[in-house]
Amino acid sequence: MTIRPAYRTISLLDQRAGAQPARLAPSRSLGTAPGFFAAPPQGFLADTLGRPLRDLRISVTDRCNFRCSYCMPKEVFDKDYAYLPQSALLSFEEITRIARQFVAHGVQKIRLTGGEPLLRKNLDVLIAQLAALRTTDGAPLDITLTTNGSLLARKAQALKDAGLQRVTVSLDGLDDAVFKKMNDVDFPVADVLEGIAAAQAVGLGPIKVNMVVKRGTNDHEIVPMARHFQGTGVVLRFIEYMDVGATNGWRMDEVVPSAQVIERLHAALPLVALEASAPGETAQRWGYANAQGHYDPQLGEVGVISSVTQAFCADCNRARLSTEGQLYLCLFASQGHDLRSVVRGPGGDADLTNAIASIWQGRSDRYSLLRASLPPEAQASGARRVEMSYIGG
Ligand code: GTP
Ligand code: 5AD
Ligand code: SF4
Ligand code: SF4
Repeated sequence: MTIRPAYRTISLLDQRAGAQPARLAPSRSLGTAPGFFAAPPQGFLADTLGRPLRDLRISVTDRCNFRCSYCMPKEVFDKDYAYLPQSALLSFEEITRIARQFVAHGVQKIRLTGGEPLLRKNLDVLIAQLAALRTTDGAPLDITLTTNGSLLARKAQALKDAGLQRVTVSLDGLDDAVFKKMNDVDFPVADVLEGIAAAQAVGLGPIKVNMVVKRGTNDHEIVPMARHFQGTGVVLRFIEYMDVGATNGWRMDEVVPSAQVIERLHAALPLVALEASAPGETAQRWGYANAQGHYDPQLGEVGVISSVTQAFCADCNRARLSTEGQLYLCLFASQGHDLRSVVRGPGGDADLTNAIASIWQGRSDRYSLLRASLPPEAQASGARRVEMSYIGG
């Protein structure tokens, strides 16, 4: 059954699908009966493909001050676009309650995303609440944030003080004309670089920079970007332009396969393959080589994220919580599971923990892996797929 809150206006172009009510695990119904208790979280959940739950991405706003063509094209996200009303958003307390239950089920990393997360007021308050959580082993969480960098110079110190560990900054080129074409709001490169420098100065590292590569638009910036960040401690990652959402007009011929990115880089700046640093990692890592052809940690590393040409669903341990509390199990999902009504319902944290367990245990999503086997006309149809600005990257 699909439930849509009565107050929300769904425009014709709105691909945010109504959420499924969250299913509660069978143990929940037993848990309400005298003498029975819902099973407590064990710090480990596996989905139907045996994948653990380790990474929770929380979108704190569906708004952004950029209009990157691959994410929030201006023609769609214009002044008439119906963003979520304030009343629909999860409060910081609700987000923290939900996050606590995810952590009890084994989540070790929390990424705050948007839209642009730094547009959410008092975000440092939420960060401080999340930073107080501990994994099932008693360790602090890896708390990070994806930002376009526009407000970073101003906010870096407060974020660090609140307990944020690191940031990932999106930057699609070093040339102003190219970058402005990508962000489509005339935002200059220098201000993002200033944000990165501020984040480095306050110790929000290791800093990663994500560059979405679109053939014919910014692919000539691949090598200059690599030269710029080589030896700075910043890890640059090149991302294949993806068919997320339904509004970006994605075409396969605009994707530059990561293998070609590596080829171009290697010709200018020799690379050696590095091991993955964590299971389920999105990026394949490459280290810069010294004159002897060995990895030189002083020069640092780059990464490629190849969700189009080399799907990494097999180890996908990521769950995504939308600004209004819908849980998405895949970046390409068309429906979320409604956790907001659970967090606001009478069942309290026991219901939340059961709902999360039941949803994750039923998960079989592996969109990128299946995409290749779809008939060409079905590929990138974008049918009812949720927008990335709504669930975060
Ligand atoms: P680190 O822990 O910093 O390495 O983070 P990460 O690589 O998990 O996260 P990040 O948000 O920086 O991911 C970079 C980009 O990879 C995103 O902006 C997306 O474009 C893409 N990406 C991340 N997660 C997924 C995923 O689960 N599926 C797909 N298809 N793409 C993803
Ligand atoms: N393809 C690849 N990555 C995307 N992002 C947003 N839209 C896309 C897309 N179509 C990612 C980028 C950006 C982050 C906020 O979301 O990595 O840096
Ligand atoms: Fe905003 Fe990031 Fe989307 Fe660009 S990619 S429009 S900066 S949320
Ligand atoms: Fe995970 Fe879906 Fe991305 Fe595959 S396509 S890696 S299942 S989010």
